[in-house]
Amino acid sequence: MNVGILGCGTMGRLHAEMAEKCGLKVVQCSDVNSQSGKDLAKNFKAKFVKNWEDVVANKEVDIVAIATPTPLHFPMLDMAIKKGKYIFCEKPLCRTVEECKKVIQKAEKAKIKLFVGHVVRYFHEFEAIHEQIKSGKIGEVGFIKMYRGGMPPQGKNSWFRDFSKSGGVTFDCMIHDIDWLRYIFGEVKTVYCQNLIEKNCAPLDYSQVTVRMKNGVLALVIGTWAHPSGFRVKVEVCGSDGLMYYDNMETPLEVQLREQSKVSGTIVPESPVIKSPYQKEWEDFISWIKDGKEPRVSMYDALKAVEIVSACLRSAKIKQPVNL
Ligand SMILES: NC(=O)c1ccc[n+]([C@@H]2O[C@H](COP(=O)([O-])OP(=O)(O)OC[C@H]3O[C@@H](n4cnc5c(N)ncnc54)[C@H](O)[C@@H]3O)[C@@H](O)[C@H]2O)c1
Repeated sequence: MNVGILGCGTMGRLHAEMAEKCGLKVVQCSDVNSQSGKDLAKNFKAKFVKNWEDVVANKEVDIVAIATPTPLHFPMLDMAIKKGKYIFCEKPLCRTVEECKKVIQKAEKAKIKLFVGHVVRYFHEFEAIHEQIKSGKIGEVGFIKMYRGGMPPQGKNSWFRDFSKSGGVTFDCMIHDIDWLRYIFGEVKTVYCQNLIEKNCAPLDYSQVTVRMKNGVLALVIGTWAHPSGFRVKVEVCGSDGLMYYDNMETPLEVQLREQSKVSGTIVPESPVIKSPYQKEWEDFISWIKDGKEPRVSMYDALKAVEIVSACLRSAKIKQPVNL
């Protein structure tokens, strides 16, 4: 099957690589930034196409991979559904709940296989934590603390700096943890969020969300784009019989100076295992297309994730908990 990449930044490059690792062929790459598009196209012996609409309209493209700034997901999804493509879309599904609902309605009607990259479900460490919880190793879980983030997304003109586009760290980044919590513990009852979104200090942002799940489990989710360097992920799960703790960068105390930007875009967390979680999500998507096996993430999960992080932003604005 042939893949067309829409958006050739951090995630577009990664997904082109994963698609090829899964035996697919990247045939077209589109980006408003011609240099980014041409560079990626050259790497994959694909064709650079300036306008994304031309990629979506191309009959030779079977799968459209959407990796553009979040507000562009909606028009791209809309057209890809109309053209009957298989779709791999980065999270968040869309920038608003209303757009997510419209997309899902259209995808359902047109029977489109739409996969959304909630990749934390595929991270080895998170799968291991899930397994331990399921096996009852630490008894009944009562509290989870999750932490994700590091330096702000780089690039002077990066769209991440415009919080109306990215939603800041709460919407863009913590959606990973919120989705994972829902995947493991079921529906969310209440969120109470405090963040820096009104402080106009973009791209720096910091956010903490208290989440009460319907089953009574309590979680604290912290996200940051305010660190001087690196990218850290920590998880603490406290149960009636014990505690589980994971930290991707356990190091002694160190002083870090704010890094000058060497990279553009965001930093994607790495995993020490041989097979990337980003490849695993592509394999899941492809097996859905080929064998009809339901993937680990559904478009309804992606809608729920957007609903919850949108409720977090509302909560931060009104400075009150919000019920879902
Ligand atoms: N799953 C993850 O781990 C993860 C990590 C980072 C970002 N993301 C998500 O992936 C998406 C892309 O983020 P990114 O970090 O790759 O951003 P990025 O800024 O690195 O790349 C976006 C690319 O889209 C291009 N673009 C902008 N407008 C376009 C248009 N009209 N047509 C074609 N291309 C256009 C930009 O020029 C840029 O090259 C976002 O939705 C983001 O939330 C997911």
